Amino acid sequence: MSVTTLSEVEERHSREAIEREIVRFEERIRELQSGTITPEQFRPFRLKHGTYGQRQPGFQMLRVKIAAGVLRPAQLRVLADIADEYSTGRGHLTTRENVQFHFVKLENVGAAMRLLADAGLTTREACGNTVRNVTACPVAGICPGEAFDVTPYALGVSRYLLRHPDFHDLPRKFKIAFSGCENDGDCAVAGIHDVGLIAQVRGSNGTPHRGFKVLVGGGLGSLPTTAAVLSDFLPEEELLPTIEAILRVFTETGNRKNKLLARLKFVLRAKGIEEFRRLVTEKRKVSEAPAETLAVPSPIKPSLVTIAPTPRSFSAAEPQSDPEYDRWAGHNLMFQRQAGYGAVWVKLPAGTFYSNQMRGLANVLEKNELTGVRIAVNQDLVIPWVPFDRVRAIYNGLRTLDLATAGARTISDVTGCPGATTCNLGITRPLTLADVLSRELNGYTDPEIQKLRIKISGCPNSCGHHHIADIGFYGNVRKVGEQQAPYYQLLLGGKVNADGVRFARQIMAVPARPIPAIIRELLAFYQQDRQAAAETFSAGVARTQDKTIKDWLLPLAEVT
Ligand code: HEM
Ligand code: SF4
Repeated sequence: MSVTTLSEVEERHSREAIEREIVRFEERIRELQSGTITPEQFRPFRLKHGTYGQRQPGFQMLRVKIAAGVLRPAQLRVLADIADEYSTGRGHLTTRENVQFHFVKLENVGAAMRLLADAGLTTREACGNTVRNVTACPVAGICPGEAFDVTPYALGVSRYLLRHPDFHDLPRKFKIAFSGCENDGDCAVAGIHDVGLIAQVRGSNGTPHRGFKVLVGGGLGSLPTTAAVLSDFLPEEELLPTIEAILRVFTETGNRKNKLLARLKFVLRAKGIEEFRRLVTEKRKVSEAPAETLAVPSPIKPSLVTIAPTPRSFSAAEPQSDPEYDRWAGHNLMFQRQAGYGAVWVKLPAGTFYSNQMRGLANVLEKNELTGVRIAVNQDLVIPWVPFDRVRAIYNGLRTLDLATAGARTISDVTGCPGATTCNLGITRPLTLADVLSRELNGYTDPEIQKLRIKISGCPNSCGHHHIADIGFYGNVRKVGEQQAPYYQLLLGGKVNADGVRFARQIMAVPARPIPAIIRELLAFYQQDRQAAAETFSAGVARTQDKTIKDWLLPLAEVT
């Protein structure tokens, strides 16, 4: 066993090392084009470098990893350049805090990689059987409920595992998420990841010690699985060695013959948590992780913070009242735990983000001396550290970019994967449905309804997180007469909170077209049927039989 030093870790990410990586990628493209290697030989290599095939032959999807979802203004501009020069003038924010570009030509991937490398970004290990983007709560560092800011740990783990020679050919993909607290349903959702880390502080001899609750083997896909608890409290200095040990156990025990049974959750199923814990403890003894806690400071945390009194409300200054601003502030602005600062949520329909908005947002940030933004798992953006006296200026700036839509974190803030618009496996088009729903469901004022989340996937794989939505949909098709008609499976009652993860239950298949009307009917049913004003939608769904819901919705679900 030889322990890796921090300088060895940094050497893996030097610009020279990255250039060699890009040159090698371009050589492989030439080998493919000259027939020296087959598309099948090229595929795993291409995936390891974040380049996915897409539905349209000849085009690639390029996935840019945004570690912990953190983006600086200069990086936003580079993403805008890639969108304009090599893609379709837009990017797509994903539920794993990546930014994806579609319709990229293979011969342009190297050039895009160079632009990204110069900006400190990469597509490396964004796809394929690798450690995928390490995600974190989008409000880490500012959230009133967090134990501590997990961002530096997420960035440290990401840096250590990226380009690690032992972990880019795993049995299957591997996803890690960091949460600041257990009530993380709207944040990092640790419990649906291969490794979920939840910040905890424990006292020992009167000194508080930072650490993490460690969850393992969670996942969605065709077999949604709640993670098991590996450790209730792992001290922070044990973080890297333990994650490394988990990866080594996975490397040795994961199923390399059947891709469908290869995720870590199947190792947990086969071995049970006790045996898995024993194996991890064994591997921990031979860990090569650096002895230091690798915490990378968040690049968007302001160095100078001036505490100011918190205003009682964000209503527009009288005498001119501005109901539109008030509505936006009511939904899209949250108080930080640091007095005098707020975080602004930017609602994006299913994560679609245009190049002019990327550049414009970079300008708004810099003009207001703000350090950056974060991508949220629900595909919104969060602008942290906005001094209260700048909120109105930010709002005005966002408005000119069409980025000041009210309704962030409400029922009209719909999550959706790209689906059949570009994805090979997609059956339906969640982007279209999400766009329609985000407009149609804007008018609800009932607080219980506003709290609901709608999430849509184009197939059962759950990239759009339909399993953990109050109202979830995944795409399928039905034969109607001689035609194939787009349908969705409706799922209800998913929830993630401090009590854990509850997956939504499948109710019925519904045609795509009347879904807005079906949702309105469902909400009317809930409002009529609720047993008390405070009964939540999820409690209502839990006590109502599938048949009752189906009977209510059936007239709308019949294709005419
Ligand atoms: C390029 C098209 C894509 C393909 C072929 C694909 C494939 C898959 C597959 C097969 C699964 C099931 C994993 C399993 O059960 O082992 C899955 C899950 C998932 N994917 Fe994708 N995906 C694609 C794009 C995306 C996008 C765009 C996002 C983000 C919006 C995403 C995020 C996720 C998430 C969050 C899950 C569920 C969590 C889990 O891994 O268990 N994927 N994907
Ligand atoms: S859920 Fe299905 S359609 Fe959507 S991105 Fe994932 S694999 Fe593609």
